[in-house]
Amino acid sequence: MADEKVDILLLGSGGREHALLKKLAESPRAGKLYVAPGNGGMLQQAELAPVNQDSPAEVAEWAKTHGIGLVVIGPEAPLVEGVGDAVRAAGIPAFGPNADAARMEGSKEFAKQVMAKAGVPTAAYKSFTDEASCAAYVREIGGPCVVKADGLAAGKGVIVAQTTEQALEGVRQCFSGQFGDAGNTVVVEEMLQGPECSLLALTDGTTLVPLATSQDHKRALDGDRGLNTGGMGVYSPVPILLPGELETMVEIEKKVLAELNREGIRYSGCLYGGFMLTKDGPKVLEFNARFGDPETQVVLPRMKGDLVECFLACDNGTLTEDMVQWEDDWAVSVVLASAGYPGHYEKGKKIVGIDDANALDGVTVYHAGTKLAENGDILTNGGRVLDVTAVAPTFEDARNKAYEACDKIWFEGKTYRHDIGIKAIKGRANL
Ligand code: AMP
Ligand code: GLY
Repeated sequence: MADEKVDILLLGSGGREHALLKKLAESPRAGKLYVAPGNGGMLQQAELAPVNQDSPAEVAEWAKTHGIGLVVIGPEAPLVEGVGDAVRAAGIPAFGPNADAARMEGSKEFAKQVMAKAGVPTAAYKSFTDEASCAAYVREIGGPCVVKADGLAAGKGVIVAQTTEQALEGVRQCFSGQFGDAGNTVVVEEMLQGPECSLLALTDGTTLVPLATSQDHKRALDGDRGLNTGGMGVYSPVPILLPGELETMVEIEKKVLAELNREGIRYSGCLYGGFMLTKDGPKVLEFNARFGDPETQVVLPRMKGDLVECFLACDNGTLTEDMVQWEDDWAVSVVLASAGYPGHYEKGKKIVGIDDANALDGVTVYHAGTKLAENGDILTNGGRVLDVTAVAPTFEDARNKAYEACDKIWFEGKTYRHDIGIKAIKGRANL
């Protein structure tokens, strides 16, 4: 029945999942909402499902016994583990690709091969399974270049090396076992130059519907200094695109989907293209098999459309372009982090002021690393704690509102970047 309510199990615990939960809850089709493991904010809105999100058998079994009508898989690890396969095998619709298609994120080498066959522009690369030949190749081409561990390494397995010495150190790190099995194969890439742009798209395996563009800020400190993080702030849409760049990115994603189809691999869910806008046009940095975090926190608030309907359509092959429309406004999100992140940080600090921030017009505070205490307090529970997001009619308004909201929130060690969105305001010529 098209208008029947479905009970939903959402896997994950980040700001991305809180944004997904809020959007799913807005749908008239949403029945009971369960999360595993969720976070402090998500558990104010949904019930805890006591399952291990990375176990295909556990998730499928729990979903079956609880009459779940849709399992939404937020992070990459359960996708690569085959949670989508197990849920679908149990006859339950799932959002997120099966394990074979999730290799677009799970294996950089697989993704590179698909891109080569699809004829889409990406950095030139070579892959290695032994350290000596990898190091010899790095000496031959010299720096700058980029060294990447092949599997999932939680964003840490990428070394952007300016010099040959740094690249050789990266090769050593990758083969040292510090990224686990992810380091068994190592990819060496040409370094691309230009601003980055993320393009998330929904797909049912055949039709691809692009969502709005967004731009993440990966470094920990103002001025893009400091260590790489999971992302410290983001905005949408990206105002610095040149004519034709969006069309090229969409075309690239469609070609990749067609190539996967040719190989007999059905990809349904969110296809996330990470692009570098080079002087020769957009080139692919990577593909992810899921929504971006924190990109989702600025893309979904601007989306008009029923997310439950969209996700079910992705699973059953009935997605159409008209299911997604956009508000004509801007979103900026600033991450409030724990002092020390991405290195060591403390947890368990009481957070105050979230309600005051949420009360501002156009502001939504998404929880990431937070925990709901028994007395109802919200405590810090991770490196990235909150995503303070504002939506407004102009980019400047959204940015100012997001920072005004950040000022309303306090916890010991609260740390954030003050320059989220500055580059967009300066314009493309000044990058
Ligand atoms: P990835 O996990 O592959 O997206 O890489 C993480 C970050 O490293 C990207 O967002 C870029 O900032 C940077 N990066 C990755 N590959 C390249 C490349 N070929 N050239 C320049 N920067 C890169
Ligand atoms: N924003 C980066 C990611 O989701 O991988």
